[in-house]
Amino acid sequence: MKALLFNGSPRKGNTCAALDALKKGMENIGDLEIQEVMAADVSVSPCMACDLCDSDGHCVFEDDTNDVVDAVLAADIIVFATPVYWWGMTAQLKVIIDKFYSRSKRLKDLKKKVGVLVIGEAGQDDPQYELIPKQFACICDYLGWEMAFSKTYTAAAVDDLANSGETIKEIGELWKAF
Ligand SMILES: Cc1cc2nc3c(=O)[nH]c(=O)nc-3n(C[C@H](O)[C@H](O)[C@H](O)COP(=O)(O)O)c2cc1C
Repeated sequence: MKALLFNGSPRKGNTCAALDALKKGMENIGDLEIQEVMAADVSVSPCMACDLCDSDGHCVFEDDTNDVVDAVLAADIIVFATPVYWWGMTAQLKVIIDKFYSRSKRLKDLKKKVGVLVIGEAGQDDPQYELIPKQFACICDYLGWEMAFSKTYTAAAVDDLANSGETIKEIGELWKAF
């Protein structure tokens, strides 16, 4: 089994702490290869809507797009973890998801389980914690992927989440949904 973890944050902060806790828990899943993609560290240029992927079957950009989409195709488990930026996921992560378009037919109806982690500064009554999970739910519905969990957390300073023992413990148990 393969798991692909997308980290949408450009810094080593709350999203990193969340994914570290999740990865530790996922060690309980036997025979699992885990790959983490730092969205800010890969070179993926924004989709130009050239539609050449329709005939070529892959993205024409000679950057990391095709490698990342290959990894998505191969993964049994996909985790999207993102800080909230302006009531949405980060641009770094969205640019990657837009590139799923280059192989959306092939990505459809494959047996994939998805986990979503959303971390923002605002309290849990903010609409962002409905908007962003709903967007991921729509993406999963469209692709025919199963949503295993979708969780939202509040953390502001870079080390808030790492210092929240209860939250780290909860995230450490989420692997059970896969
Ligand atoms: C450009 C930018 C936009 C942000 N927009 C929001 C927002 O709309 N809502 C919110 O609750 N927090 C917002 N934040 C705060 C981050 O979501 C929050 O600090 C989060 O914990 C950062 O996660 P990280 O440490 O993994 O990078 C924003 C931060 C930045 C840098």
